[in-house]
Amino acid sequence: MKNKTVYVCTECGYESAKWMGKCPACESWSTLTEEIQVKTAAKSGVLSKGKAVPVKLSDVSVDDYERTKCNIGELDRVLGGGIVKGSLILVGGDPGIGKSTLLLQLAKFLDKSVSVFYISGEESEKQLKMRADRISVKNELFTVLSETDINVALSYVEKNEPDILIVDSIQTMYNPEISSAPGSVAQVRDITLSLMRLCKDTKTAVFIVGHVTKDGAIAGPKVLEHMVDCVLYFEGEKNQTYRVLRAVKNRFGSTNEIGVFEMTDEGLAEVKNPSLMMLSGRPENAPGSAVCCSVSGTRPVLSEIQALVCSSNFGMPRRMATGTDYNRVNLIIAVLEKRVGFNMQNQDAYVNVVGGIKLDEPAADLAIAAAVASSFKNRAIDMNTAVIGEIGLTGELRGVSQLEKRLYEVEKLGFSRCIIPEANEKSVKKMKTLQVITAKNVAEALALILI
Ligand code: TYD
Ligand code: MG
Repeated sequence: MKNKTVYVCTECGYESAKWMGKCPACESWSTLTEEIQVKTAAKSGVLSKGKAVPVKLSDVSVDDYERTKCNIGELDRVLGGGIVKGSLILVGGDPGIGKSTLLLQLAKFLDKSVSVFYISGEESEKQLKMRADRISVKNELFTVLSETDINVALSYVEKNEPDILIVDSIQTMYNPEISSAPGSVAQVRDITLSLMRLCKDTKTAVFIVGHVTKDGAIAGPKVLEHMVDCVLYFEGEKNQTYRVLRAVKNRFGSTNEIGVFEMTDEGLAEVKNPSLMMLSGRPENAPGSAVCCSVSGTRPVLSEIQALVCSSNFGMPRRMATGTDYNRVNLIIAVLEKRVGFNMQNQDAYVNVVGGIKLDEPAADLAIAAAVASSFKNRAIDMNTAVIGEIGLTGELRGVSQLEKRLYEVEKLGFSRCIIPEANEKSVKKMKTLQVITAKNVAEALALILI
């Protein structure tokens, strides 16, 4: 059989017989790379052959998936209640963020009857042992293998029949039958297919570690994300100690769930109350700090938003947003200029979400506006007041979802007042200690909170 050269887009997996500067499928530039495809007869029929039988939808039983509990509460939450047997889970994140540590730690907390097989293409068995000792992993059924040839690794896996297989990382594994380099589109795709076949046939749950590229996507083509059942991202600032595990795709549970961890010398520790952590170290009565409550999945999290507004040295004022959407910040500043009458054309504005949680929810609008206004006017916001609300272009406050949940969290953390949109008034239940105040628009809200 003759080998064929094809050009594959690293972004979307598009294949072409000739090189092109621009990928016709996803329109990105210079992403087509050369791959040699080896034709083997065995490649046809990806999933188990001949086993599927059509059934009536009404006959399908909807018993819940068989799950293995990780006994790490935050990980179970993100997975939707445990590891589903026979599922393929991709864990992505920057190098050094703690992916290997998290998966090693799994072995520590899993029930003693669950066997784990860990294939590392990055570290030797010795290194793994040292690391496991440090986080005191003592699971008897934990097997490690340092190997990069996927065929060799899988032959051991077949012999061991583990309940859980961990492949660290997909970019270091290779199939010698394919001549392109490890980490290339062809390799990544082929290995994922082999792993997919394995988990559908044997009910082994497979975790794949994937590195991410500079712009934050998992290296290798998008096809990788399409093929797996769950995509989890492990995020966090390098120089901070907390880490957030986020589900961006989950066929067995809700996406947007987050799990929060803190790094320690003995590995990752769960953070049961993220709000408390996000608000620790908040300055007292300092201008430019506001607290809002966002909801990620099912969980409300309080976070502090800080803003610094100062006069600009250039004709074009600088605007910067960390942890929240830059365009949203610009829009909110425009609303403050036009609807509240702030003159900010010659003011630089920097907005930062403390604690590193990404806020992409409109319910945080009012807190951004409050922080900016507070810094601009140099007037602090009352320490015990939280603000919730989306801002419309006419300066009106729009209602937010799941208000009740947010208010309970605000109350739980000891706040005495919360400003909410008037549109939400009806959904307010009687709170024990929290005073809930409604406002129609941004100007009204600001008048209530700036001291
Ligand atoms: P590692 O798990 O190797 O990151 P990744 O697999 O994502 O590249 O973690 C990087 C380093 O951080 C490693 O030297 C161990 C250290 N570390 C801790 O000491 N404590 C922790 O809780 C974590 C997560 C990592
Ligand atoms: Mg690693």
